[in-house]
Amino acid sequence: MLLEVDRLTVAYDTAMVLNEVSLGVERGELVSLVGPNGAGKTTLLRAVSGLIRWERAALRGSRRGDITLEGQVSFNGERIGRLPAHQIARRGLVLCPERRRPFAEMTVGENLRAGAYLVKDAGEERRRREVVYHLFPVLRDRARQLAGTLSGGEGQMLAIGRALMLEPALLCIDEPSTGLAPLVKQALFERIGEIQAAIGITVLLVEQDVALAFSLSSRSYILSHGRIVGEGASRDLLRDEAVRRSYLGL
Ligand SMILES: Nc1ncnc2c1ncn2[C@@H]1O[C@H](COP(=O)(O)OP(=O)(O)O)[C@@H](O)[C@H]1O
Ligand SMILES: [Mg+2]
Repeated sequence: MLLEVDRLTVAYDTAMVLNEVSLGVERGELVSLVGPNGAGKTTLLRAVSGLIRWERAALRGSRRGDITLEGQVSFNGERIGRLPAHQIARRGLVLCPERRRPFAEMTVGENLRAGAYLVKDAGEERRRREVVYHLFPVLRDRARQLAGTLSGGEGQMLAIGRALMLEPALLCIDEPSTGLAPLVKQALFERIGEIQAAIGITVLLVEQDVALAFSLSSRSYILSHGRIVGEGASRDLLRDEAVRRSYLGL
């Protein structure tokens, strides 16, 4: 397993957000994690990326409450639960957060360069930028344009492009389709499929559009109220009557 989450529990004060969640992603897979609003999907991605631990440390000593964080997270065979977020990113676990906006006052090209903050070599940085431009040609066309002028779909491509500049081993993408028109969404998902199939990056995709997520991924997990309530081959989940009724509105 590239990513292995074992009985991960997160609670804000007494509010349980994740309740002993276990899941795994094999190297080379595209796995989706779906579930209703408030299920805990974003919290799971933030926990594996080291952000919950960072938030907990920031809260400590303040009167704003406490965070419980329990369970094990392993990446590439190494326990990463105690590592700071930047060390986790360095090891290749990269999060493209929900509704991330590019830096509006910087050009598209400058945004990508900022994404490569761990890359010291200019040639290597250019090579990675070419990979992103190859995947999202519209970003090359708009390279000198301010990011603030991009459409919603282009902005999301840039957010993913920025994450790709770190050349992740595992790219976690949180709800990339939020607010996008159906055709734009479809096009974006085809590109996400290519990140796995053509570039060979393992992807953990959190998505509201369950049918779309299932169509793209080989395996899926369904999270509800902080618990995994379904898992398996996406093909089988799509045929499952209870899953269809509860999560696909069919
Ligand atoms: N920083 C926080 N403080 C308190 N509660 C939070 C915090 N972040 C998330 N939660 C709660 O955790 C639950 C799950 O949130 P989230 O992980 O964002 O769900 P999802 O991404 O599946 O919509 C929600 O009930 C939310 O209110
Ligand atoms: Mg979320």
